[in-house]
Amino acid sequence: MGYYLGIDLGTSSTKSLLMLADGLILGSAQEGYDFSQPALGYAEQDPEVLWLAVRRTVQQLTADYPKEMAQLKGIGYSGQMHGLVMLDADNRPLSNIIIWPDIRSTQEIAEIYQTVPWDEYNRIILNPLCTGYQVSSLAWVRKHRPELYARTAKIVFPKDYIRYLMTGNIGVESSDASGGALFDTSRRQWSWELIDRLGFRRDIFPECHESYELAGLITEECAALTGLRAGVRVAFGGGDTIMQQVGNGMVSDNGVWVSNIGTSNQLSCAVSRPVYDTQYRSNTFCHVHEKLWMMMGANVTGGLAQKWLKEKVLHMQDYRDWDREASQVPPGSDGLLFLPYLSGARCPHNDANAKGIYFGLQLGHTRAHLIRSNMEGIIFSLMDCYRVFQSCGMEPDRLLASGGGARSELMLHIQADMYNREIYTNLGKEQSCIGAAVAAAVCAGEYRDYEEACAQIVRYSDTVIKPDKENHKVYLERFEVYRQLYDHTKDLLS
Ligand code: XUL
Repeated sequence: MGYYLGIDLGTSSTKSLLMLADGLILGSAQEGYDFSQPALGYAEQDPEVLWLAVRRTVQQLTADYPKEMAQLKGIGYSGQMHGLVMLDADNRPLSNIIIWPDIRSTQEIAEIYQTVPWDEYNRIILNPLCTGYQVSSLAWVRKHRPELYARTAKIVFPKDYIRYLMTGNIGVESSDASGGALFDTSRRQWSWELIDRLGFRRDIFPECHESYELAGLITEECAALTGLRAGVRVAFGGGDTIMQQVGNGMVSDNGVWVSNIGTSNQLSCAVSRPVYDTQYRSNTFCHVHEKLWMMMGANVTGGLAQKWLKEKVLHMQDYRDWDREASQVPPGSDGLLFLPYLSGARCPHNDANAKGIYFGLQLGHTRAHLIRSNMEGIIFSLMDCYRVFQSCGMEPDRLLASGGGARSELMLHIQADMYNREIYTNLGKEQSCIGAAVAAAVCAGEYRDYEEACAQIVRYSDTVIKPDKENHKVYLERFEVYRQLYDHTKDLLS
């Protein structure tokens, strides 16, 4: 049985995790970072910061587990989605990465839809165009930084650039490519039609593969920098939301929906056909399992809204007291409501101009109210996604909580009460990293496919969180106000 390394290249940190093929986690290492906002609404990251974090976390594991790391049989990735990495003819980054929370490209999206009408465009990609998606950022660069666009030889997603540094090979895979929004999502290939009609050069789009395919081998140069053994097999990996599904065992159309609260938050499920919302309020991306797709509703600022409150408003060091404080306040936060649109809204509004709001403040409200209503607002945004899925005729058989939202006892209860459903959790805590390690194990032939791997590795907890009917009633009423609040304020905030 082999050892596998899963690298999760996130927005707030990189985590690397060492796993035995049967799912036993030996250890993990994490390195945090931030993103820069050179102008209001911009979100960028220096590729070197990400690469340094990858090197350091891998070095840490090599130091902690020298014997096991020397026997490593494969490496896989989970990566923050949608970002634009532009490389020159020598595969060197031409600028910072424009990452997914960036909202500078609203005008370029309007121009794309002038060239290819909204319904025609969306029917090919099965998604609405959003700011921060690779195509929107690329259109912005072509218009505002033509000299950079002219020098661009290839574009990739953030994790693909890291994989290039480790293997010397450039490539992308379907899950992230579909999140770039120039992709024929049903057919799992670049949409050359859209690329031609928008006038992008075909040669900047790398060859597209599936997540578990062999992307290359660790080079001597990478080995010298990280302590890894040269020649280890490297899988393409996938987008983090989908890798999180793999770590949660969602590798078939099994009726499981996952409510994930990470840096962003998403409700998602795996589907065996490219099902999509015909009003394009939600997303349909390629799953890393080549016979599946992922349906997703996302809000850009989940954990980001919590971090904003913790650091910029309350000046707290960590979240240790959050559950205790927020539990002092009743469900509904005594009338205080939070709209978590601190970097625009995706599902269901797709509105880059949407803004965050604390609504209904009174003198009696305290820090605890701010915290609780922040949590509730994030989960209301997931309720919005839940309603979109239901309007597509879907219902979950089982609802799983994942990410930071599954580590807070209070947030688990708020989710159960809002959805009015039992909430399950996974015994594995780093689902995206585990998903990445699973892709590596499938690539190395340790398992026949994702199903066989996950059947062996993923285990849910026996503890199930039950909904409280009275709390649910309160949340249903507040949800109506939450929805109206956006409708009534959107024109004032644009
Ligand atoms: C998914 C999304 C985020 C990032 C987070 O659509 O934008 O989940 O992938 O890293």
